[in-house]
Amino acid sequence: MRSISILGATGSIGASTLDLIRRNRGDWRVVALTANGKAAELAALAREFEVELAVVADEACLPALREALAGSGVEAAAGPKALCEAAARPADLTVAGIVGCAGLAPTMAAIEQGGIVALANKEALVSAGEVMTAAVAKHGATLLPVDSEHNAIFQCLQGNDVADVRWITLTASGGPFRDWDLAQLAAATPAQAVKHPNWDMGAKISVDSATMMNKGLELIEAFHLFPVGLDRLRIIVHPQSVVHSMVEYRDGSTLAQLGPSDMRVPIASCLAWPKRMDTPCNPLDLAAIGQLSFQAPDEQRFPATRLARQAAEAGGAAPAVLNAANEVAVAAFLAGQIAFTEISAKVATMLSRAIPAPPSTLDEVLAVDAETRARANEMMEHA
Ligand SMILES: NC(=O)c1ccc[n+]([C@@H]2O[C@H](COP(=O)([O-])OP(=O)(O)OC[C@H]3O[C@@H](n4cnc5c(N)ncnc54)[C@H](OP(=O)(O)O)[C@@H]3O)[C@@H](O)[C@H]2O)c1
Repeated sequence: MRSISILGATGSIGASTLDLIRRNRGDWRVVALTANGKAAELAALAREFEVELAVVADEACLPALREALAGSGVEAAAGPKALCEAAARPADLTVAGIVGCAGLAPTMAAIEQGGIVALANKEALVSAGEVMTAAVAKHGATLLPVDSEHNAIFQCLQGNDVADVRWITLTASGGPFRDWDLAQLAAATPAQAVKHPNWDMGAKISVDSATMMNKGLELIEAFHLFPVGLDRLRIIVHPQSVVHSMVEYRDGSTLAQLGPSDMRVPIASCLAWPKRMDTPCNPLDLAAIGQLSFQAPDEQRFPATRLARQAAEAGGAAPAVLNAANEVAVAAFLAGQIAFTEISAKVATMLSRAIPAPPSTLDEVLAVDAETRARANEMMEHA
C-alpha cells in the first residue's frame, strides 16, 4: 500500500485523482486532503477516504470544517501554514492540484519531503522556475508532470537522450475561440470562455485555454522540466486534442503520445509510475475520430504565447510577473471587470514595466507575486 496526499482535492484534478484512488482503494492510504473554502465537500471526501488530516486555506471556513468532521477522527486545520504542514506530512506521492501561485508554498513543502510530486499546478513552476527545480535536486524529489502535454513529452523521452532532441512540440486545442475574429473575441463572455470544447476543467485554466495563455504557461513549464532550451520548444494547434504532444529526434523520428481527452490518463501515469495501471477511460477510437488536423498558432489574435516566450527569454522575475498579472486579469475578466482581449493586453502592460530583481528564494518569488498582484489590481481598478 502506498500513501498519497492531494493538494486541491475539491478541484477538477483532485476529483480525477480521487476517482482513480476510489477504484483502487486497497492500494492507497490517503494522508491529507486540502481545499480553499469548500469545507463541506472536503469533509465528505476526508470521511470517505478516512484521511489523517483535512485543511482549508481559508481560515474563516475552519468552524464549518470542524463541524462537518465531528466524531470522524480526522484532524482539521486551516490557513497557509497548515496547508504547508499538510504537504510536508510524509507521503509517498503528493498531487499538487491547487490552482495558481497559491499552490507554490505547499508544493515546495511537498518537494522538501524528497518524495514524488505529481505536478498539475503549472503556475507554481512558472513563477518559481529555478527555485523549484533547485529544490527538487537538493531534496532528491521526483517531479512527474500531470499536465497532459508534459506527461506526453515525459513519456516520449523515456529511454532517449535529451541531447538527441530536435524539437519538442506542445499541442494546443486552440480553445473555444480558435476560429473567432478580433471583434468576436472582444465581446467574448466568461460563460463562453469557460466552456472548453474538449476538456472539463476549472474556470481559471479554461480561460487560460481560451486566451492561449495556458499554452504560454506550458511553454515555460516545459522549459523547466525538459532541458532542451527554449529555441527547441514550439507550439502547434491541434483542435481534436488527441495527440497530447510530440518529441522529434535528430534522426527524423517523431514520437507522440495519443489518448482520450481525459486527465485520468496522465494522472494514472503519475500514480503508477514507472508502471501502468487500469483506467476507466474510453479506448482511443481513431476510426471514429476520422481526422487529426494541425495548424500554426495565430499570435495576432492570441498574443499570450508570444508574451510567455518573451518572459521566458527575459528569465529572472519576468515569468512570475507574467503569471501574477495573468491571474489578476483572468479574475477581473471572470468578474466582468475587463473584456476578454484585455486579459493579454494587461499582462503585456505589466511585462513592459520595470521587472523586479531575479528571485533566488521561495520568499523572494512570493514577494514578486504579491507586488505584481497589488500593481495589477490597481490597474484593474482603473480599467
Ligand atoms: N483541470 C484540468 O484538466 C487541468 C489540466 C492540466 C493542468 N491543470 C492545472 O491543475 C491546477 C488545478 O486546476 P483545476 O482545473 O483542478 O482547478 P479547480 O477545479 O479550480 O480546483 C482548484 C483547487 O485548488 C483549491 N484552491 C483554489 N484557490 C486556493 C487557494 N488560494 N489556496 C489553496 N487552495 C486553493 C480549490 O479549492 P476550493 O474547491 O475549496 O475552491 C480546488 O481544490 C491548475 O494549476 C491547472 O492549470 C488542470
